Amino acid sequence: MHLRNTRSGYGLVAILFHWTMALLIIGLFLFGKYMSDLDPMAPDTFALYQLHKSLGFVVLTLMVARLAWRFANPSPALPETMPRIERLAAHLGHAGLYALMLAIPLSGWLMVSASPWGIPTVVFDTLPVPHLPVPSALGTKAEAESALKEVHELLANGLLLLVLLHAAAALKHHFINKDDVLRRMVRTGPAGRTD
Ligand code: HEM
Ligand code: HEM
Repeated sequence: MHLRNTRSGYGLVAILFHWTMALLIIGLFLFGKYMSDLDPMAPDTFALYQLHKSLGFVVLTLMVARLAWRFANPSPALPETMPRIERLAAHLGHAGLYALMLAIPLSGWLMVSASPWGIPTVVFDTLPVPHLPVPSALGTKAEAESALKEVHELLANGLLLLVLLHAAAALKHHFINKDDVLRRMVRTGPAGRTD
């Protein structure tokens, strides 16, 4: 059982980060779309918004830990046979996924910090989180909140698009190229090992 990555495969920690966060993020995306269509004055809407915020902070925290782990570990090399353009697309795609996994919760945090309602953010009703200073260039609180809402939505929609391309690429590796790229994100150890 490998905890750390090697040059040929992902370790257990990277694999757990990947799939836990993939589930959380796809869940938060659907959750966000669902809750923002609800009647804002309905009794349950408030609690759902608070839950979305709490889970968003879980993603942000995991993301910081994941980045630290990523820099402390080697990255498995892409298959030798992959054309240069596909390598570039893979690297840019992963960088984009990381950037959005940070930017989306941060834009959400900034959005709730700008809210004229001044609703406190208390993660899982337990851990109070301070609000961020909102740049005055964004206008009044209400203007800043609505601009940041647009940004949060736009970034989340962008993430969905990138995730679809990313998952399609993983399936292409597995079924068309028949290489180890998908397999090594599911099981630990150097790619190609069968033990
Ligand atoms: C990776 C983490 C997150 C994802 C994927 C995500 C995704 C989304 C999505 C898809 C929506 C619906 C946008 C729309 O179509 O109108 C939404 C709304 C919202 N999100 Fe997030 N979110 C995340 C983190 C956060 C965080 C950390 C906060 C706040 C601390 C937050 C606060 C909100 C709020 C307040 C709304 C409702 C906006 C409205 O009133 O329409 N989100 N989120
Ligand atoms: C069904 C959905 C998904 C599949 C099938 C999938 C598959 C994969 C595979 C096979 C790799 C390894 C690529 C390699 O070996 O070089 C990978 C890496 C990665 N995935 Fe996913 N993934 C999925 C969802 C997601 C989601 C939702 C996110 C984040 C929003 C994500 C973010 C990443 C990132 C950042 C990497 C790069 C890891 C590194 O630094 O090496 N993936 N994914």
